[in-house]
Parts: sequence; C-alpha cells; structure tokens
Amino acid sequence: MTAVYPGSFDPITNGHLDLIERGSRMFNRLIVSILRNDSKQPLFSVEERMEMLREVVHVYPNVEVSTFDGLLVDHAAAQSASVLLRGIRAISDYEYELQMALMNRRLRPDIETIFMMANETYSFISSRMVKEVFGLGGKITGLVPPSVEARLRRRMPHTHSKEA
Ligand code: PNS
Repeated sequence: MTAVYPGSFDPITNGHLDLIERGSRMFNRLIVSILRNDSKQPLFSVEERMEMLREVVHVYPNVEVSTFDGLLVDHAAAQSASVLLRGIRAISDYEYELQMALMNRRLRPDIETIFMMANETYSFISSRMVKEVFGLGGKITGLVPPSVEARLRRRMPHTHSKEA
C-alpha cells in the first residue's frame, strides 16, 4: 500500500518526522509530498524544503520525497497511492482536516484519508510557530531536526547572534 503525506513542510518539524517514522511502518511506500503552488509566502524554497526532508528521511528506505502542483488527489493517483496521510494535533485541526478529507473523497472516492494522532510530545509544534519563535530569538532545539535548526540559523543569523 502506498500513502502520500502532503504538506508545506516550511520547514519540517519533529512532529512531521514522528508521523513519517510511524507512517513508514504502516505503509509499503510513503511519499512525502510538498505543495508547490502554495499561496502562503514560504521561508524556504521548494528545493530547500526537499533537501531538508531528504536529509532526515534517508534513513527510511521506503520513504520518498516529492512535490506536486494542482490537486492532491490527482498527484496521489499518479503515484498509485490509495491513502492520504495527515496528522492531527488538537481538536482545532479537526475541522479543516475534515473539510479537506471530505472534499478529497468527493473528488476521488477510491483514495482514503487516514489520520494519525500527533505524538503528545510534539502536539504543540507547528512550522509557523517554530519560525516565529526562532525569528524572535527563542530556542527551538528539540522541535526540529538539528539539520533544520542549522539552516534556520543560516537563514536568520541576526536573530541568534549571541548563541552563534
Ligand atoms: O501542511 P499544510 O499547509 O496544512 O498542507 C495543506 C495541503 C498541502 C495538504 C493542502 O493545501 C492541499 O492538499 N493542497 C492541494 C490542493 C488541493 O488538492 N485542494 C483540494 C483539497 S482541500
């Protein structure tokens, strides 16, 4: 069974990574797919996000990194994936995720969305908050992989001059 784990991953957090690790044990093949035509203004380019993902998922032989444009379900179908994997952290995620899952089911009833509950250790982490905290000089160690923290440090060197 092939699953697609879609998202912006700007940047990947330890919460995403936990889901990838657990997903890699559930599915024969797991494709982590970055949305290309995101309306949000990203901090990292799609290519940088791919590199960051590849640096951390190479330890899982059945996990691939990919990108997509357009409808997620069309991308999944093109990859012969029958599952969309999404993580849910808090109840506040549920409404948006439900809407998305129902729309995707309407578009392609043969593709199933499977939700995994985020590990409680990471249930408060989001890429947006990691960027905000880091940008304001806060510590993000343990929230993102060390390679991602290093990249953030290079991208925003002025915010952490004391620690550098
Ligand atoms: O990590 P994110 O930003 O919550 O991921 C959102 C994502 C990429 C899964 C979602 O925006 C998406 O699938 N976009 C592709 C367009 C699409 O298929 N839209 C219809 C379903 S809502």
